[in-house]
Amino acid sequence: MGSIKAKILLVDDDADILESLKNRLIWMGHEVVTAPDGRVALDVINKESPDLMLLDLEMPDMTGLDVLDRLAARPDQKKKANALLNDPVVIVMTAFATVDRAVEAMRLGAFDFLTKPFKMDHLTVVIDKALATLSLTRRVETLTGEINKGYEIVVGKSAAMRSVVDAARHAARSPVTVLLLGETGTGKEVLARAIHRWSDRASKPFMVINCAAMPEHLLENELFGHERGAFTGAITKEIGKIEAADDGTVFLDEIGDMPLPLQARVLRLLQDQEFQRVGGHHNVRTNVRFIAATNKDLRAGVKSQTFRADLYFRLDVMPLTLPPLRERAEDIPELTDYFLERHTVAAGKRGMRLSQEAMVCLSGYDWPGNVRELENVLARAVILCQDDVIEPAHLRLSSVGFPCEPDIQEDVTGSAYYDALDRYSRKLIGQALSRAGWNQTKAAKSLGIQRTYLTKLLRQKGIPGHPPQD
Ligand SMILES: Nc1ncnc2c1ncn2[C@@H]1O[C@H](COP(=O)(O)OP(=O)(O)OP(=O)(O)O)[C@@H](O)[C@H]1O
Ligand SMILES: [Mg+2]
Repeated sequence: MGSIKAKILLVDDDADILESLKNRLIWMGHEVVTAPDGRVALDVINKESPDLMLLDLEMPDMTGLDVLDRLAARPDQKKKANALLNDPVVIVMTAFATVDRAVEAMRLGAFDFLTKPFKMDHLTVVIDKALATLSLTRRVETLTGEINKGYEIVVGKSAAMRSVVDAARHAARSPVTVLLLGETGTGKEVLARAIHRWSDRASKPFMVINCAAMPEHLLENELFGHERGAFTGAITKEIGKIEAADDGTVFLDEIGDMPLPLQARVLRLLQDQEFQRVGGHHNVRTNVRFIAATNKDLRAGVKSQTFRADLYFRLDVMPLTLPPLRERAEDIPELTDYFLERHTVAAGKRGMRLSQEAMVCLSGYDWPGNVRELENVLARAVILCQDDVIEPAHLRLSSVGFPCEPDIQEDVTGSAYYDALDRYSRKLIGQALSRAGWNQTKAAKSLGIQRTYLTKLLRQKGIPGHPPQD
């Protein structure tokens, strides 16, 4: 491990010791900064974040122990997960007679100690050991960060989102079955995974079963598994996802599309935590937490007899509805940052941002595909955009919601925003008039404005109040 090069801070009030240690460490290939007392040392730590500090315990004024005390008390320190990453690894130096102080220093977080006088070889060993530990800690930290990045986080601080997320956190702590409702792309699966992570089953598997993806018999097999010989081709026993979940969480996605005959079996499973494998005759007991999701109206399903009423009531104990994106436009900037970061990295680009006009387009659009659509729009924009600033033209939003067709945006001048608004209102007014058969009263009503205001707008914008002549 002698190859690790580090930035080392030397703290000693004895100038000769500083000089000789400094030479040795430089010879070892490290970068060295020195401090003649504790105050300067703290300053250097704040400004230069050394990896390692060799700290003399016996100094006048502020002792080494005082320095360690101050380090531990730094206000931002408590927030950080791993002190080793932010504070230098500390090796204290002390006279042989005062080893008890070294012990105190270790209690305050020092990694190791050297009793003076020490041999240079001994110094090398202690430093290499400390740096090896540091590099290991950093590696673990990086890997943990990477793993956590794989987990999606639930982005969104709007009141609507917060109340759903709070309820979900609450529900996560109990074994209750949660039913996630909401339009397509609102984040039901993201929240289901989060509930699993927040629960005491987090270290167990999270199994997803898409109830809409396959015909009844395959789905049954996927859920419950089968015994050997259960059907032609079943040469061995196979367990289903419920057993594979092994006390974890089972996510029954698109449960509104589950075939009726299977609904009865699933109801029994939810009620009794018991089922039989396909072709089996004995009960298998389970202990899984169920989360179900659908974008269908289950109550309507009950009415039309495509969904069992008893299953519906069993699921409806803890329903959580994810709000559509158009009802929480204040989440759009944060979601945009999140996806932009993700997709610029994925596309091997960096530092992209949205122009103000593009942001206006995102906020005004009605997002029928919700968060998924926003993510797709941004992923595409990152690829389409040749430089750092994403403009409305790169968003390619369908014009139903908002006029972000490329033609409006081609010349981005200082007044692009007002131009866009002007063109949009012209288009709206034109459409409303034509739909109303050029009856201004009707058109005004459909636009939700006063008839007199419409007349004023027509005059202001020079829009003719009658059909085109030819
Ligand atoms: N709150 C959120 N934070 C971060 N990403 C989100 C959020 N909501 C949705 N997403 C992203 O949007 C996409 C769609 O989310 P998800 O699959 O959870 O939607 P859904 O509600 O299950 O949709 P569907 O009903 O179509 O299955 C995912 O790629 C997910 O990463
Ligand atoms: Mg889904």
